[in-house]
Amino acid sequence: MRKKVLVTRRIPNQGLAKLRKYFDVEVNELDRGLSHDELKEKVKGKDGVICLLSDKINGEIMDSEPNVKIFANYAVGYNNMDVEAAIKRKVYLSNTPGVLTSATADMAWSLLFAVARRVVEGDKYIRAGKFDGWSPTLLLGREISGKTLGIIGAGRIGRAFAKRAAAFDMKVLYYSRSKKEEFEKKTGAEYVDFDELLRKSDYISVHTPLTTETIHMISDKEFDIMKDTCILINTSRGPVVDEKTLVKALKEKKIWGAGLDVYENEPEVEEELKYLDNVVLCPHLGSATDETRISMAVMAADNIISALNGKEPPNNIALYMDV
Ligand code: NAP
Ligand code: GLV
Ligand code: GLV
Repeated sequence: MRKKVLVTRRIPNQGLAKLRKYFDVEVNELDRGLSHDELKEKVKGKDGVICLLSDKINGEIMDSEPNVKIFANYAVGYNNMDVEAAIKRKVYLSNTPGVLTSATADMAWSLLFAVARRVVEGDKYIRAGKFDGWSPTLLLGREISGKTLGIIGAGRIGRAFAKRAAAFDMKVLYYSRSKKEEFEKKTGAEYVDFDELLRKSDYISVHTPLTTETIHMISDKEFDIMKDTCILINTSRGPVVDEKTLVKALKEKKIWGAGLDVYENEPEVEEELKYLDNVVLCPHLGSATDETRISMAVMAADNIISALNGKEPPNNIALYMDV
């Protein structure tokens, strides 16, 4: 009998076609994510699941169908998954590292440019019919070239973001759990402690995963240390930045601006952020290019195929898992 796979929301056909060669595939065709209860029902009778970062994969979901061998996240971040619960139950978890690195680094740069050069305000200004000619003082922004960039979390995306700074003759500072010699050699980036990064950077971009250590890593105290001309970019996970204190920092001009792709309580966005001009808001678009989403779909499918053939999936999250 063919094994059964659930895909919790439509992903590119390249991934689905791969899966359909071997398995019966059920795709959630609703134009929205599944609720926790719907997910619990849908996993029943399945052997593998491709899930989204908005699906909470906990012990309860795993127990609703003990036959599921793998939950393959259609994302690199996996803070939505309970790794311990999976290890206990000998269930594989996988993610999609690497294929979305460039797209997400580019997104962080898009936000930095949009904030620094007031692109969204300019667009709104024209559409409101206000443009009446070149002005020496209209929508003045911040220079990017030659400035100091601070990277928090020098992993795949953080390093890709930093690499792009060379084109703008920037000095790169970084703070991460560990020092990266190779990265320093290639980019001239300098390892500094957290407070020094906050104090010296003109622009700061956050690229850590969401963990118990990184939650609210940026809050009141950190905004107090930053320059009042600093721009904060967050494409990692919302809760890494304390959103309420960010609103305060933006209102009180403790920092110059912010560019956000992620939010503390997605899909909800702190209401006050929507009324501030010095923040640019994107709806979690880091990996949202045609090319990247196709690669992610193929990668997630490959993980399912391995696990359902009794092999360790190539992007196994809990490497030490004893299955
Ligand atoms: P990664 O290669 O694992 O990089 C994460 C880096 O964060 C690692 O280098 C790690 O440091 C560092 N880190 C972890 N805990 C830290 C801590 N407490 N303090 C300082 N640094 C810490 O992951 P990635 O592929 O770059 O992805 C990073 C995150 O981006 C994902 O987890 C996800 O949440 C987010 N993301 C968002 C989007 C989007 O659509 N906006 C798209 C893709 C990814 P060491 O290497 O020094 O140990
Ligand atoms: C997106 O946020 C991801 O983690 O892939
Ligand atoms: C601006 O358009 C300039 O020519 O300086």
